Amino acid sequence: MSGRYAVLFVCLGNICRSPLAEAAFRQEVERLGMDVEVDSAGTAGWHSGKAPDPRSCAVAKAKGVPIDHLAARQVTLADYRRFTHIFALDEDNLAVLQARAPADATAEIGLLLDCVPGREGEEVADPYYGDAAGFEVTWRDVSEAARALAERLRG
Ligand code: 4NP
Repeated sequence: MSGRYAVLFVCLGNICRSPLAEAAFRQEVERLGMDVEVDSAGTAGWHSGKAPDPRSCAVAKAKGVPIDHLAARQVTLADYRRFTHIFALDEDNLAVLQARAPADATAEIGLLLDCVPGREGEEVADPYYGDAAGFEVTWRDVSEAARALAERLRG
């Protein structure tokens, strides 16, 4: 890893929310000229190898950060050392991440919206069973968090 930081975003399936968080944060660190490794994963492996949900792809494309090339993967034990920060999109996935953390984990693990002043403890809602409007809400949430996180890491 070349930069100081490596950030992993984690939701359940790695096809809806965390690929959008990855895209929003990548866009933000590029805008700021920061060198940060960025990735996403799911606590579940049901969709491993698959591209993001078409509704996430459509939102990302509209925002100028296409994600059609991404492939879902499940979180691995190695992720807990490879990444400096692991952010869960909601409380359930935060609990799973914490429960599975190996003894030698070095990553700081937290809830994504805790990065946003005034939104601590809030979750990025799962848009999977809803309509396209829910994915716009997801984008708003993850881009707000991406801006706040990039500012925080920039120091
Ligand atoms: P994600 O959304 O965790 O934001 O990727 C979901 C994707 C798939 C399922 C649930 C949520 N699923 O039940 O397959």
